[in-house]
Amino acid sequence: MYSELDKKNKRNLIKRIGVMHGIEITDRMIQAFINVPREEFVLERDKNSAYVDSPRPILAGQTISAIHMVIMYISPSLSDPKEGDIVLEVGAGSGYNAALFAEMVAPKGSSNPGHVYALEIIPELVEFARENIERTGYSDRVTIIHADGGIGYPEKAPFDIISVAAASKGIPEPLKEQLKVGGRMIIPVGTTFFQELILIRKESSGNFSQKNICGVRFVPLTGKYG
Ligand SMILES: C[S@@+](CC[C@H](N)C(=O)[O-])C[C@H]1O[C@@H](n2cnc3c(N)ncnc32)[C@H](O)[C@@H]1O
Repeated sequence: MYSELDKKNKRNLIKRIGVMHGIEITDRMIQAFINVPREEFVLERDKNSAYVDSPRPILAGQTISAIHMVIMYISPSLSDPKEGDIVLEVGAGSGYNAALFAEMVAPKGSSNPGHVYALEIIPELVEFARENIERTGYSDRVTIIHADGGIGYPEKAPFDIISVAAASKGIPEPLKEQLKVGGRMIIPVGTTFFQELILIRKESSGNFSQKNICGVRFVPLTGKYG
């Protein structure tokens, strides 16, 4: 789909973003970033600025996150996605982050493909994300579900990775319960004005370690845990 020049530009962009934000960039991340066409996940009017590293507005007053943020989420020091992992994404939005995760856990031709379950609370965005995922060929690896993500998705739990893309006041208990032992959760926690990105690891049943990563600014988590 992309020319060699496009691929080279995308490779250079992700590497530069990695250096600027101190994010370790692996070959698998580069391949995932090249493979997923971000321009297909933004609004028509924003196609020319899809690769500007800032959040872009999508529908219903929501945003597709900045490139450095989604890259940080799939990096080895945060979610550390492995082939075969089962991922829960809370806040599907455009579906872009879900497609990137799909490239990491279920690359084409994988003999042990994982899956991404992406929950979205706004019906208009469920439709938007589904259309984007289908058009770009990820519907066999990503399922978009209309649900309140704070409650998680017990039907497919436990998860290796839970990736939350909206800011919560605290860490929703159901999400902790639905994490596998050894699983990782990334969640922005705080108020509208200041949030901390937190990495949680389930060490054993009922026993979690927690690390503060950096200050961030996400749209709020709504629903029961908002
Ligand atoms: C920053 S956007 C996510 C961007 C998205 N990851 C992407 O790749 O485009 C946050 C999303 O979380 C959704 N959201 C907020 N609260 C939610 C909840 N309780 N359950 C599911 N989705 C929620 C919003 O509607 C919005 O689409």
